Amino acid sequence: MKFFIDTANVAHIRQALDLGILDGVTTNPSLMAKEGIKGERAVLQHYKTIADLLGDGDVSAEVLATDYEGIVREGETLAEIADNIVVKVPMIKDGIKAIRYFYGAGHTHQLYACFLGRTGYFGCQSEVTYVSPFIGRIDDSNWDGVQLIEQIAGIYTTHGIATEILAASIRNPLHIIRSFEVGADVVTCPLDSIMGLLKHPLTDIGLAKFLEDAQKMKD
Ligand code: G3P
Repeated sequence: MKFFIDTANVAHIRQALDLGILDGVTTNPSLMAKEGIKGERAVLQHYKTIADLLGDGDVSAEVLATDYEGIVREGETLAEIADNIVVKVPMIKDGIKAIRYFYGAGHTHQLYACFLGRTGYFGCQSEVTYVSPFIGRIDDSNWDGVQLIEQIAGIYTTHGIATEILAASIRNPLHIIRSFEVGADVVTCPLDSIMGLLKHPLTDIGLAKFLEDAQKMKD
């Protein structure tokens, strides 16, 4: 079980690292744009900053090309940034082809935007490091995102597939718990979902009571 944070915000990454629970970071162009990162040099530098912060932890960096040659070229540039960069490739025909290339080149990689069980099938056919279903977006379209995780996990278990399931597009703490419950190897989520795991009124009430009673123990 691994915990990733889904952000390009360095302050959020530092906070999650400080909790001592962080195994990796996933990013995407929307998250990078949100941080005001502009231009190729700045993008590559930002990935380097995050990769250095993480040390050994995986940091996914997304290719923008959609053709095989472009995906391979961009992926090579991204993989050169640091050893812990995971090349993030879309679940499209040329992406699947490129995954075979990255596998052969020894680069870890993530096949993203998986919305159906058959995408999990491609994941196991192509020696993929991570396959990432976007469960929140599935829920947004009135289907059950967690059910997709369960379906892919079932296929991988039955056939002994090593590809790791990285649950993404997490909207709340329940998504995290349910994803791990049904077989996700990794969950990537925003900081507020991680912090949400720590919130429970009974914890607050229990702690307040103990602290109040601790006063009575004083001389
Ligand atoms: O990194 C991709 C994924 O986690 C997207 O999440 O919330 O934009 O659907 P969201």
